Amino acid sequence: LTLCGALGLAAIGCNKPPAQPAEGSASSPSVSSQLPVSLNVAMVALVNESADPIWIAAAKPPQSDKEWRSVVRAAYQMEVAGALLQIPGTGPMDAEWTGRPEWQQFARELTNVGKQAVAAAEARDLQAVTKAGDALVEVCEGCHKAFKPDIPTQKIYGELRYPLDAEPAKTD
Ligand code: HEC
Repeated sequence: LTLCGALGLAAIGCNKPPAQPAEGSASSPSVSSQLPVSLNVAMVALVNESADPIWIAAAKPPQSDKEWRSVVRAAYQMEVAGALLQIPGTGPMDAEWTGRPEWQQFARELTNVGKQAVAAAEARDLQAVTKAGDALVEVCEGCHKAFKPDIPTQKIYGELRYPLDAEPAKTD
């Protein structure tokens, strides 16, 4: 029984039809046509950060189920990141980049490798995680060779713990 049904509250709008989706969004009402941040930010805050734990796991194998679960989450983030990269954000080059079929292909590959990393980490299969990590490097480098400017459009740089510093983060 719904609240409206239970209380008969037609007067406060219970028998209004559901809100109409905005024009042009009927087929996918929840998909935004623009990310709220630039692709430079998405790269630094999401893609780069989710790659790090996957590469670290290959070098310093997870020691507990909790550490493995955190690799699984990073891999899921990578899977999602690939989908997000297909949508332009607020950066000056974003629309041009995402408009290119080659870009879309690299972004889809990121999702595929993310999916592969999820399966590997779910299976607690270190060799498969390492393989996914290697495949990941190929995708990053491939897209960077094709698209990445020498200086990021917003001068936002990423930081990696690995391979510069392979110490795993402290877990509590
Ligand atoms: C679909 C293409 C694409 C893929 C895939 C991609 N990148 Fe990028 N990346 C770019 C572009 C383009 C920029 C520059 C963005 C800008 O300047 O607005 C960038 C910028 C960055 C930056 C910020 C600039 C810097 O030098 O610090 C980092 C960090 C980064 N990428 C890491 C990665 C990592 C790690 C991966 C793989 C896990 C990856 N990227 C995958 C296209 C891609």
